[in-house]
Amino acid sequence: MEEQENDEEDIISTNILFSDEDNEEKARMNGQHTEHINGKTIVQKGAAKQQLLQQHSLRSIESTVVIRQLPSEGLSFQLWPAATTLVSLLDGYRCDSASSPLTSTLSVFSVDANRRPLNILELGSGTGIVGIVAAITLGANVTATDLPHVVPNIQFNANANAGLLASDGGAVNVAPLRWGHADDVEVIGRDFDLILASDVVYHDHLYEPLLQTLSMLLLGIRRKKTVFVMAHLRRWKKESVFFKKARKLFNVDVLHLDNPCDGSRVGVVVYRFDGKG
Ligand SMILES: C[S@@+](CC[C@H](N)C(=O)[O-])C[C@H]1O[C@@H](n2cnc3c(N)ncnc32)[C@H](O)[C@@H]1O
Repeated sequence: MEEQENDEEDIISTNILFSDEDNEEKARMNGQHTEHINGKTIVQKGAAKQQLLQQHSLRSIESTVVIRQLPSEGLSFQLWPAATTLVSLLDGYRCDSASSPLTSTLSVFSVDANRRPLNILELGSGTGIVGIVAAITLGANVTATDLPHVVPNIQFNANANAGLLASDGGAVNVAPLRWGHADDVEVIGRDFDLILASDVVYHDHLYEPLLQTLSMLLLGIRRKKTVFVMAHLRRWKKESVFFKKARKLFNVDVLHLDNPCDGSRVGVVVYRFDGKG
């Protein structure tokens, strides 16, 4: 599938990321996010911070995942549109594994019914919803990672879904992993079948550190081929720099294109990266 690039446009989505100082903007944006979510939102206004406890129903297991967002704490504590796309694809794969955009990538891991559970790493997990849903829908061992200050909220969300994780055989470990830090990768290890991420290409100063971490995890002499699946909503023309650099290091294919949401000219795109050679 070919990705539609339009280098003539700069801002191509209304889902724009704001700086951490723009709390009012973030609150407004959060309202925008919830339009994408087919779930129930409970808003709790506490003295210190606003909590959004959101229920996401998963068709495949006829149950509901609960996720806490803390919009006033910054963009790492909010759910982004690309995460919602990955959640839907994982749920759809569990419902019908033969006709999902993820089939070509995931089916290679399920040929042997007696094989050990999939080992999955999530980068820039934010609320952790993608990792939690991957663990539940695939019965996988997931390591959900983000910057150190984000880890407690991911752990909160993993704990909130402990019952579902236990009944579906999945597990979520939460750990700090700063992009570009080889020592963080050393602690976590490289023994992953699959790496997941959503909405992690946005500020240009983060392109290089993210590519460094991906290189550590996908390139070099390895026991097995690790695959990276990334959902991305394009917002800025400059993001093509990330993809040009990525294509020099990795094979990059498009697995899925979402239809644009209201107010956007592009939808979320799901990419698959693997190491060249
Ligand atoms: C736009 S948010 C997306 C969050 C989540 N994946 C989602 O789609 O809802 C980007 C995430 O990347 C994380 N991040 C940013 N810079 C990072 C870095 N240098 N190392 C690790 N994570 C980082 C942020 O903390 C944040 O959780």
